[in-house]
Amino acid sequence: MNAVHHAEEASPLPYPDGWFALCFSRELKPGSVLTTPFMGRDVVLYRTRSGQVRATDAHCPHQGAHLGHGGTVEGENLVCPFHHYAYGQDGRCVRAGQAEGGRRAALRTWHVREWNGFVFVWQNAKGLAPTWELPEVDMDGFSVPVGRSYTLRGLMQNLPENGYDIEHFGALHRWTDMSPHAPLVDGPRISMHVDMAWKGIRWRTLIGVHGLGCVSSDHEMKSLGLEAKIFACGVQVAPMQWTFRDGISFRFSWLAKWPPFLRHAIYAVLSRTLHRLWLVPVFKEDIMVWSHRDYSRYAEPAAGSGPYPIFRRWATQFYPAPATPTRAANAPMAAADSHGVARQTGS
Ligand code: FES
Ligand SMILES: [Fe+2]
Repeated sequence: MNAVHHAEEASPLPYPDGWFALCFSRELKPGSVLTTPFMGRDVVLYRTRSGQVRATDAHCPHQGAHLGHGGTVEGENLVCPFHHYAYGQDGRCVRAGQAEGGRRAALRTWHVREWNGFVFVWQNAKGLAPTWELPEVDMDGFSVPVGRSYTLRGLMQNLPENGYDIEHFGALHRWTDMSPHAPLVDGPRISMHVDMAWKGIRWRTLIGVHGLGCVSSDHEMKSLGLEAKIFACGVQVAPMQWTFRDGISFRFSWLAKWPPFLRHAIYAVLSRTLHRLWLVPVFKEDIMVWSHRDYSRYAEPAAGSGPYPIFRRWATQFYPAPATPTRAANAPMAAADSHGVARQTGS
């Protein structure tokens, strides 16, 4: 979009509820602290020395220092750089100074899950604790997921709905022989089998979407002996800006009998290659469209009975009602706190 700079663009939708990935697990080594943008605010992630990941509001409740700028991990606690108050895993202040009579305000924490190499936090506009969980994925024999992140203009719903927009598979990606099965809706989950072909190779997929923030899809190309799992996890970071992280993991049936060390060595090399040659080019085509799309009518109800309108109607459950538009952070009205920023404690 050229006419409107996206920093000033209003969103047609409020921030959605659910689980959203804020970083890769590998970005958080024990003892490290990371600031991540999330729905118009910063969230601070850290990993304790024992390996637990925690997420908190960015600012210290004492005098407002940003914990992502100079905050440190001491054992299982997060320590503020300003006066060295320390906060435990549940956000409680476990060490305070005496200058203000030892007053101990708690730090707000977010519910966190680590899932297949991604760190998710739970968002709920009403402040509810998690009402559903991310899926169990059988990774037996699969390679370690390899992926990267992208930050784009637009709405994160692009990512989960992509797998239900069958028309674009042929038009944009040039896949052929599409045969979608009916989507199955199960509360916060939706799934659909699609049979198709890529360069003449038969390809069967099962596209599972868990809330709007977690796409977990299974792919099988029998003639190559290839099974793959592709993860795609999006998050809205500002009203019209979002980030997604992908990951691909696979196994070849003809490698199953090879010695593990050899198999792992081959997977290590092939993982990056497969990601670069398969996933990156496909997402580049989508990104070209997503980055310049007109979103002004995006919140209009979807009519019809195909997979795409079924998906669009299913997706409405994640948007807090009434759907008032979010605005850019620098627009002259309160943005983040009035649209979906929940206060939660514990994990
Ligand atoms: S502002 Fe954090 S300890 Fe004072
Ligand atoms: Fe696509």
